[in-house]
Amino acid sequence: MCPWDPEPYTMPEDDLESLPGVGPATADKLVEAGFESYQSIAVASPSELSNTADVGESTSSDIIKAARKAADIGGFETGSMVLERRQQIGKLTWNIPGVDELLGGGLETQSITEVYGEFGAGKSQVTHQMAVNVQLPSEYGGLEGSCIFVDSEDTFRPERIDDMVRGLDDEVLQATMDHREIEGTPDDEDAMEELLSDVLDKIHVAKAFNSNHQILLAEKAKELARDHEDDEFPVRLLCVDSLTAHFRAEYVGRGQLAERQQKLNKHLHDLMRIGDLYNTVVLVTNQVASNPDSYFGDPTQPIGGNILGHTSTFRIYLRKSKGDKRIVRLVDAPNLADGESIMRVQDGGLKPE
Ligand SMILES: Nc1ncnc2c1ncn2[C@@H]1O[C@H](COP(=O)(O)OP(=O)(O)OP(=O)(O)O)[C@@H](O)[C@H]1O
Ligand SMILES: [Mg+2]
Repeated sequence: MCPWDPEPYTMPEDDLESLPGVGPATADKLVEAGFESYQSIAVASPSELSNTADVGESTSSDIIKAARKAADIGGFETGSMVLERRQQIGKLTWNIPGVDELLGGGLETQSITEVYGEFGAGKSQVTHQMAVNVQLPSEYGGLEGSCIFVDSEDTFRPERIDDMVRGLDDEVLQATMDHREIEGTPDDEDAMEELLSDVLDKIHVAKAFNSNHQILLAEKAKELARDHEDDEFPVRLLCVDSLTAHFRAEYVGRGQLAERQQKLNKHLHDLMRIGDLYNTVVLVTNQVASNPDSYFGDPTQPIGGNILGHTSTFRIYLRKSKGDKRIVRLVDAPNLADGESIMRVQDGGLKPE
């Protein structure tokens, strides 16, 4: 189920010794500290690099500059290329009419959607449901695509995907089977088993062990999206659940706040780039501290503060309500009115009120 290597510290694919001032010993130290690619060095700060690799700060700056160049961060394209890309934007259904209406049709490709809320609000349920919905035929609101799931909290559960597939309407199930040329009907357990395993095969999961690893996985995700670009089921959804947990745990204390934000910002731009280049929905989750915590300020504000706010194009605040009900609130979306809708989290997945 995982065609890409989930191990954190593999041998570097990039030739670190081609960077100025990096010999074999420094290259080893960099790799040991988790800086194994141009991209991971490109996002480091000079002080961070000089501490871990034992080189002066000005040499660190040179190394970082060269790594940025080698990683090919940034770049220009023409206005017509941008236009052509914008015309490909797709909408991914929640299969909940009220929520789809709120979102103007569903989650957009080439955008980042941030789902935030307290524990148990249903953020991970949303990522699981979208990993199913993205695979549906387009006439049922899907994008006929596959999913990349970056899991930082060990929340991905294949069993939950099974529940959600079984929870689809028979008509949608039949169309999905037909689309994949699976013979049989939803009543036929063999056909269902075949469908379930095919759906799971189209979800590429990797666990992120720490924030640097998470940043590297975004790089891998880009390669994976590129490699599958011309497939029958190209990558149309990239989930990061949770986006912020590692960053929050690792960068504690006020002194590290700026560095944390800088890394998070870079990571988000990497994700955005994948969304743009490969026409994918980027769906990230963010926990809101449920007990008031003065360090993070207002408990109803998502972790990550402003930078995250400016980068994510759609922001959805999930709140628990009675029983299985959840309030889905759209916050600060461009060109869409703020508003709320209700969904239910049930055994068969996310359902209308
Ligand atoms: N099989 C199921 N049937 C019904 N409800 C379920 C099922 N599985 C999960 N849920 C509901 O989903 C809730 C968990 O939601 P979820 O894991 O998405 O929360 P979260 O927002 O990701 O929380 P956290 O911040 O801790 O990651 C459970 O409390 C339960 O109410
Ligand atoms: Mg969760």
